[in-house]
Amino acid sequence: MWSPFKRKISGPELTFLPSGKKVTVLPGTSVLEAATLHKVDLNHSCDGNLACSSCHIYVHAGAESAMPPSGDEDEMLDAAEDVLPNSRLGCQLKVYENMTVEIPPSS
Ligand code: FES
Repeated sequence: MWSPFKRKISGPELTFLPSGKKVTVLPGTSVLEAATLHKVDLNHSCDGNLACSSCHIYVHAGAESAMPPSGDEDEMLDAAEDVLPNSRLGCQLKVYENMTVEIPPSS
């Protein structure tokens, strides 16, 4: 019997480290939206309004398919701990292709 709840969505696979949890998302879903939907702990003090840096993540694979960070995102990242060249804010990063992200202990 057909059920909308059993229907598998097709889309990019997002892997969260360090847990290794893999989820399938609709293209254009933000990392924060995916984390919230799939019960992955990712801080989001401003609820995705680009007013904090608590959703700081590292992108290990798939960054080339994403839009580069905006100037406002870069400014907010300056306030995050342990920023690296692959740092992004989870609420701003949208997933269009398979991607692997790491949630640092501070997030
Ligand atoms: S949740 Fe505040 S900037 Fe992402």
